[in-house]
Amino acid sequence: MALRVAVTGPTGEIGISTIEALEAHPEVTQIVGMARRPFDPAERGWKKTVYRQGDVLDRDAVDALVADADVVVHLAFVIMGTREESAKVNLAGTRNVFEATVAGGPRRLVYTSSVAAYGYHTDNPVPITEDVPTRGTPEHYYSEQKAACEEALAETTAGSSLEVYVLRPCIVAGPKAPALAEAMPWNHLPGAVRRLMQAVPVLKPPMPDPGTPVQLVHHDDVASAIALAVTTTTAPPGAYNIAGDGLLTFSDVGKALGARPIRVPHVAAVATSEVLARLPSVPSALEWLHAGRASTVMDTSKAKNQLGWQPQHTAAETLAALANTVG
Ligand SMILES: NC(=O)c1ccc[n+]([C@@H]2O[C@H](COP(=O)([O-])OP(=O)(O)OC[C@H]3O[C@@H](n4cnc5c(N)ncnc54)[C@H](OP(=O)(O)O)[C@@H]3O)[C@@H](O)[C@H]2O)c1
Repeated sequence: MALRVAVTGPTGEIGISTIEALEAHPEVTQIVGMARRPFDPAERGWKKTVYRQGDVLDRDAVDALVADADVVVHLAFVIMGTREESAKVNLAGTRNVFEATVAGGPRRLVYTSSVAAYGYHTDNPVPITEDVPTRGTPEHYYSEQKAACEEALAETTAGSSLEVYVLRPCIVAGPKAPALAEAMPWNHLPGAVRRLMQAVPVLKPPMPDPGTPVQLVHHDDVASAIALAVTTTTAPPGAYNIAGDGLLTFSDVGKALGARPIRVPHVAAVATSEVLARLPSVPSALEWLHAGRASTVMDTSKAKNQLGWQPQHTAAETLAALANTVG
């Protein structure tokens, strides 16, 4: 089988690894990537990939991107941004991609949703399986938008013959996905200050640990899941949870990334989240605090048993690889 694949967001943390996995796949013969920044695939030694600069908000550009593709992989998204700015790209841009794919010739769509689509609800089961509704958490823009995109996907593709694969990864990390480390404010301090903080433990910034477990997945393992979703002839369309094996704590993450973990009662995390939810206006960055409110540990057995996915890195190995890169 000779597959032509169109990818939105090939320059991002997941995008780079995804293109590498698709480049290495014998059945993928042609890849067209589109994002806004200038980018040269040849600099990475990619042979099958052509890149065009474009915005998913531009429907003509999206139509042209998907026109000759057998499979569309939609990765373009704004993760860290304001509620208002991210909504434009994430809702209108994503809808453009879904509608263009249904209207055009591709037979398959692979969309990376997120664990955040489930929302941080105390009545979510532990672990979460794919049949749990993606309710989102309205107070957290990213979670709300991920849930809205899944709803838009179901609505846009209803009645069409498109094969739709939805991957729901947990937090992605690793040497080529440093966003988790970059989200820690102290990692933006000058090197000398950071070294001093690391040398004197009391100077390390505190990191609250409300006891909520954390899953991590390596960028190459997400890429291999996407490549499987693009090429599988046996796994049924549908949703697949994606997370590395093993659970971490906020303390593990804090320690690895240079903080001084402080155990706080879980009720404190819930109370903080509830207070934030009641405030009339909250900076978008603070909305991420809602993520500590409830367990969102996912069951990944469907991806392993049906998609044939086998992560090569545990959550702990992924964290160590990230810490080595930023350390
Ligand atoms: N990273 C994680 O921890 C994680 C976890 C679960 C799910 N996901 C999901 O996986 C997907 C990819 O995430 P990522 O980590 O690779 O994100 P990322 O590193 O922030 O990359 C985002 C990509 O989207 C492109 N993009 C953004 N706005 C665009 C626009 N208007 N038009 C065209 N391209 C645009 C960016 O390139 P330009 O800026 O050059 O346009 C970039 O290539 C997203 O849907 C994300 O929600 C990520």
